[in-house]
Amino acid sequence: MTSPSPDSPAELTLEEKASLTSGSATWYSTAAGDIPRLMLTDGPHGLRRQQEGGDNLGIGDSVPATCFPPAVGLGSSWNVDLARRIGEALGREARAQGVHVLLGPGMNIKRSPLGGRNFEYVSEDPHITGRIAAALVRGIQSRGVAATPKHFAVNNQETDRMRVSADVDERTLREIYLPAFEHVVTEAQPWALMSAYNRINGTFASEDPALLTDLLRGEWGFDGVVMSDWGAVNDRVASVAAGLDLEMPPSDTDAEIVDAVNNGTLDEAVLDTVVERLRLLAARTTDPALATDPVDVDAHHRLAADAAAEAMVLLRNEGDLLPLDPTAGARIAVIGEFARTPRYQGGGSSRVVPTRLSGALEEITALIGAKNVAFAPGFSLTDNPDTAASLAEEAVTAATGAERILLFLGLPDGFESEGFDRDTLALPAGQLALLERLTTLNIPIVVVLSNGATVEVSEWATSVEAILETWLLGQGGGLATAEVLFGLASPGGRLTETIPLRLSDTPSFLHFPGRDGHVGYGEGVYVGYRHYNTLDVPVAYEFGFGLGYTRFDYTDLAAVPGTDPHTWLVSATVINVGERAGSEVVQLYVGTTENTPTRPAQELRGFAKVHLVPGESERVTLHLNARDFATWDSGQHRWRVDAGAYTVQVGSSSRRIHLSETIAVPGDGWVPELSEHSTVGEWFAHPVGGQLLQSVRDRMEAFAAGGAPELLRMVEQVPIIKLVSWKMGLTLERVREMVAFVASQR
Ligand code: GLC
Repeated sequence: MTSPSPDSPAELTLEEKASLTSGSATWYSTAAGDIPRLMLTDGPHGLRRQQEGGDNLGIGDSVPATCFPPAVGLGSSWNVDLARRIGEALGREARAQGVHVLLGPGMNIKRSPLGGRNFEYVSEDPHITGRIAAALVRGIQSRGVAATPKHFAVNNQETDRMRVSADVDERTLREIYLPAFEHVVTEAQPWALMSAYNRINGTFASEDPALLTDLLRGEWGFDGVVMSDWGAVNDRVASVAAGLDLEMPPSDTDAEIVDAVNNGTLDEAVLDTVVERLRLLAARTTDPALATDPVDVDAHHRLAADAAAEAMVLLRNEGDLLPLDPTAGARIAVIGEFARTPRYQGGGSSRVVPTRLSGALEEITALIGAKNVAFAPGFSLTDNPDTAASLAEEAVTAATGAERILLFLGLPDGFESEGFDRDTLALPAGQLALLERLTTLNIPIVVVLSNGATVEVSEWATSVEAILETWLLGQGGGLATAEVLFGLASPGGRLTETIPLRLSDTPSFLHFPGRDGHVGYGEGVYVGYRHYNTLDVPVAYEFGFGLGYTRFDYTDLAAVPGTDPHTWLVSATVINVGERAGSEVVQLYVGTTENTPTRPAQELRGFAKVHLVPGESERVTLHLNARDFATWDSGQHRWRVDAGAYTVQVGSSSRRIHLSETIAVPGDGWVPELSEHSTVGEWFAHPVGGQLLQSVRDRMEAFAAGGAPELLRMVEQVPIIKLVSWKMGLTLERVREMVAFVASQR
């Protein structure tokens, strides 16, 4: 805004300004002066616009809206353009309903597969999380609706989420839990952002100035409105002072803000800044130039179904059993309640009332004819042991004589949701028992999974011919599943989270979900594939994996440095060498085996999804920059590029690397400061400090040569100040002179 509007903050009373820092109702901000009341509503994969006085837990009804695949599915598509198109559709539907702010995307890192809300998040990796979320933000905001990336930050569990302190070191924060938010804020400029319920190292995210002001605004340049998660504010004044602009929902404590200004504990200028941010948000979301187009419900449904096909991950396909032939007239047994009662989204605040919905059973029947379909529910969604045997018996009867069994298994609503975490990765017992019974029929089985977070498959995967992980696919999932199973579409998904062999292999197993109000992030940066692939831990299916109905070859890797020695162009050619059209996700990983502290063996640094017909090839080029080689230096509080050899890996998954090359990357030339507490080794390695200590080094080397070879390495770990007492000719004054000289050369 260039000039203050007629009602600039000076025109508003203190009480009016204070009222703006809190909502006026569950789904509304407050109006004051020229700032109108704005409507905020969930959610990340579909509009949940409730009538007045709704709830924030998805209990009450909302207006019908397109239910797109939740983030677990959309993320598995690895399709950034698709995410943008879905964002745009979400923006259209929000605007048509008079919604100004959409409360999504959800983008927390899937630290543990037990996370109850993993269905609402993209990945265990920050790179793909940031790219998918940024595309959603761009799409949503292209229609004049504010997106609200959430939950900022380190909200990786549901257990004790409103109080727990996520205790995480600085490097892990910077390299794992912040980069996706950083990418979205700096590349997609969201107009709003939601702070998380939890504490971070003891401070509530909604009251943390280092997070909400120094980092978010000072370092990343965020200019939007920070709102709290619903009920996340514990101290109104502290939250406003920290950089939280809008408490939701209202807590009727505006007087605390007024009193704080009047007694001098809160500067009124802070309120004026909040007012300007809310005014900017209103200007951005009430732009009359952005017409409210009518919503094409059919087109949005088709988009949801197309997205679902791109999202599902084919994990196993022995003998190319899939796709099935829809014209063969074969008798197909469709077993499993999920085929009839689709689980297509997660529980809690993101729950959408879909504009339409069909199960895979209905769509398969429509596709191949009822005479070719035998159905049985096979199990109850409550996993009721009393009915398990009879339901299994009924299913065996239905399946007997069929040529193929399509077995729909997964996690019922009560097993995972916002608000609580799982304590097992296993499928419900009744389903596993049914699966075992069906394998005795010796009929090829295709297991179709519906689950918001990974389940253990290793116990039974080799006893079935095919496994299609469909996650939660939104309202178009039933149609897409039928189309993929019978070859009208190809499965386009790749795993954005590792499927471990067992829960105890997961890197956070010993720490998640914490106790006594704290959860330690003891695994550090080794989250997901960064753990499994660095330690070469066997997994059921690796990060980035997924099969299709065709095959691709990779050739002609070229890694070419740019003018800046830290920018590289990495190119490879991908060819469809199969008989069917299909999509491939070309993945670029960078790793180094040099330098300490230890670095993950590989990190995802780029990807591109290509759709190719048989024989068609495409040259894919991905960009690397300094940040792709960097690690966070917690001592100097900065990104650091160490000189050394880095591997550039191009593959179809994190463990199926088809092309690789080692490149030499120069350091960033940054010369660290030295102090009297820097070690002798740091002084020796320093371009200026090393020269000053040459005489000391010479003496050490002489001692070492004289029969104490270990001496030099021992001394290198000693803070230089300690040498003063060793009578090595180094006085405290001399040390301080050297520190001052080095500083003067920076
Ligand atoms: C919930 C969720 C948040 C949602 C909000 C409003 O508790 O954590 O994601 O947007 O409240 O429903």
